[in-house]
Amino acid sequence: MARPSPSPSPSLLVLSAIAAAVCLAQPGAAALKVDYYASTCPNVEAIVRGVVQQKMQATIRTIGSTIRLFFHDCFVEGCDASVILVSTGNSTAEKDHPNNLSLAGDGFDTVIKAKAAVDAVPACTNQVSCADILALATRDVIALTGGPSYTVELGRLDGLVSLSTNVDGKLPPPSFDLDQLTTLFAANNLSQADMIALSAAHTVGLAHCSTFADRIQPASVDPTMNATYASDLQAACPAGVDPNVALELDPITPQGFDNQYFVNLVNGRGLFTSDQVLYSDARSQPTVVAWAQNATDFEQAFVDAITRLGRVGVKTDPSQGNIRRDCAFLN
Ligand code: HEM
Ligand SMILES: *[C@@H]1O[C@H](CO)[C@@H](O)[C@H](O)[C@H]1NC(C)=O
Ligand SMILES: *[C@@H]1O[C@H](CO)[C@@H](O)[C@H](O)[C@H]1NC(C)=O
Ligand SMILES: *[C@@H]1O[C@H](CO)[C@@H](O)[C@H](O)[C@H]1NC(C)=O
Ligand SMILES: *[C@@H]1O[C@H](CO)[C@@H](O)[C@H](O)[C@H]1NC(C)=O
Ligand SMILES: *[C@@H]1O[C@H](CO)[C@@H](O)[C@H](O)[C@H]1NC(C)=O
Repeated sequence: MARPSPSPSPSLLVLSAIAAAVCLAQPGAAALKVDYYASTCPNVEAIVRGVVQQKMQATIRTIGSTIRLFFHDCFVEGCDASVILVSTGNSTAEKDHPNNLSLAGDGFDTVIKAKAAVDAVPACTNQVSCADILALATRDVIALTGGPSYTVELGRLDGLVSLSTNVDGKLPPPSFDLDQLTTLFAANNLSQADMIALSAAHTVGLAHCSTFADRIQPASVDPTMNATYASDLQAACPAGVDPNVALELDPITPQGFDNQYFVNLVNGRGLFTSDQVLYSDARSQPTVVAWAQNATDFEQAFVDAITRLGRVGVKTDPSQGNIRRDCAFLN
């Protein structure tokens, strides 16, 4: 027989409030761990690094494309390899967002090849997520290019959703100013200092002429740009240039992961508005100057920032994701 449930006593209310608070802290909060695969695939780090090394020997495009893929993965739906999923008959995936000159194929290929190498070891088959492989490969290209090496936290599950429409508003365009950059990174739990440190990834890789064309128009060159740099860029990217033409983001040390990015900014040699504004805005200039002068301080800040980037929106509960057998397709 049904009877009215008694009103909960005040002490029960307190208890259930505590229980609710504990539950709320759970999703996504299950912490990543550096030794996550210690028992299931103890050699995962060496396997991934070997593939990254080979891939870097095959093409230097591996460097920029892999690092950028990690950033885009984390900022859209969290670090869950959703960026690697392909479109299906009735859904357009993140990677097919209209901005299709954007993510270079070698980043995807790095993850696919590393996943195959991991899965070829019987104990490791279907044990390691694509999201973790991308996080490891990113660390490896940075370290192998002269940047800092660091410990990578692991245990991300691969996401179940990849939609082009989810990209809108999640990634910074190169026209952003300091406040816009700071706000977008804050939405991902990253500070302004994290944002400045992570922007230094533009010390490697390429950018298409269209991404900075507005800054080098002969009639209106961006006054914050070094005049010599502006004329070099105009020569390389004349009006009507092939849209596939891309230039080095850091022409001084294009394949070195170093603090040259900040030295370039001090010299007016940031390629995007979003780069140069870090120096031209008085609020971020002291940080840029400090890291231009002290590589050690920059590297420490970068390691802290990319570790926090690797935690964005991660999925650790089996209801939220799984370990994909093929990084490009849902299981
Ligand atoms: C702060 C805001 C940022 C903006 C506005 C921005 C914008 C861009 C743009 C427009 C390109 C050129 C794409 C192309 O033409 O193909 C690019 C390239 C690149 N970005 Fe960023 N980015 C930002 C932050 C980051 C972060 C946080 C990372 C990684 C930690 C990153 C890593 C890269 C890399 C490595 C490349 C070269 C890609 C390649 O060589 O294929 N960027 N970025
Ligand atoms: C389209 O989406 C529906 C519902 O999610 C799904 O059942 C169907 O298999 C999809 N069709 C294709 C061709 O992907
Ligand atoms: C980008 O996609 C559009 C529409 O799908 C296509 O017309 C265009 O040729 C593509 N551009 C490149 C460079 O692939
Ligand atoms: C322009 O770039 C050159 C080479 O980096 C540098 O020597 C010069 O000081 C820069 N000019 C300005 C105004 O920063
Ligand atoms: C960089 O800063 C650290 C302190 O964070 C200091 O110990 C070191 O001497 C500095 N290096 C240079 C080259 O100024
Ligand atoms: C930011 O941090 C909070 C508190 O830890 C967490 O609940 C939230 O999911 C995080 N957001 C992202 C995008 O990771």
